[in-house]
Amino acid sequence: MNDYIAKMRLDGKVAVVTGGLGLIGREICMALAQAGAKVIAVDIARVNGRAFEKGLRTAGLDVNYENIDLAKLERLDAAMDALRSKYGYVDVFVNNAYPRTKDWAARPEALKLASWRKNIDMQLNSYAWLSRKACLLMRKRGGSVINIGSIYGVQGPDARVYKNTGLSLPMAYSAIKGGVINLTRYLAAYFGPYGIRVNTVCPGGVFDGQNMKFVRNYAEKTPLKRMANSEDVAGCVLFAASGLAAYVTGDTLMVDGGWSIV
Ligand SMILES: NC(=O)c1ccc[n+]([C@@H]2O[C@H](COP(=O)([O-])OP(=O)(O)OC[C@H]3O[C@@H](n4cnc5c(N)ncnc54)[C@H](O)[C@@H]3O)[C@@H](O)[C@H]2O)c1
Repeated sequence: MNDYIAKMRLDGKVAVVTGGLGLIGREICMALAQAGAKVIAVDIARVNGRAFEKGLRTAGLDVNYENIDLAKLERLDAAMDALRSKYGYVDVFVNNAYPRTKDWAARPEALKLASWRKNIDMQLNSYAWLSRKACLLMRKRGGSVINIGSIYGVQGPDARVYKNTGLSLPMAYSAIKGGVINLTRYLAAYFGPYGIRVNTVCPGGVFDGQNMKFVRNYAEKTPLKRMANSEDVAGCVLFAASGLAAYVTGDTLMVDGGWSIV
């Protein structure tokens, strides 16, 4: 009889999670570590990083913090080589960091070209370069790369959800997340013969204290009648990372309460 729970375990595996201190990243680190992985949380917030690492180690989870600025694209290859040397291998790589400029939320009318380019560089180009390098490092014994996308990689923003909320969706986000989804397909096709799976996990909006009007509008449009939470996303990442998803690659896994199907 197949042991499906054993297939979900990641004992003996090394999992790198970028943006590991963020809203979603923290939960992904916990999920992968609970499944038995040695987790490397990569982020730029040094003090919080040490505290996060200590807290989870006290709870018996093998989480290790690494301070790396992922916006420095020319240093990414060397940073990944260093992680591989220090931790032995990279079995799971989760591209989840969310670097953005101060004027990230600017509407198209006010958008500056330099800011557009910078965000594409920090979010799309860094995801591309890191996931390419992760695949190269995984060629020996295979692995799983998970790129965090978004509902906005498959759909345009619905203005009704943002009306009178003071919130808006940055134009670059659609280009970045749409790009991430098709980048994933390329890498999955190219590196599949090495036993490397590459998938995109696309969350819907995660509740993080947004104003109530927005939360109500969002829930109203969503079949499951609520925003996402980080656990919803982390569970799906764990599935994609594990042996349960052994035949799933190039896929776009929507974790959106049905937002994108209506
Ligand atoms: N929050 C949502 O509603 C939502 C919805 C869909 C998709 N997503 C996606 O999920 C991912 C995580 O989003 P989040 O909401 O958890 O973001 P967040 O801002 O809470 O966390 C992002 C983390 O990335 C780190 N980071 C930023 N710049 C960095 C850099 N240069 N180098 C290293 N680390 C850096 C931050 O310090 C932070 O800990 C992103 O890809 C985002 O686009 C988020």
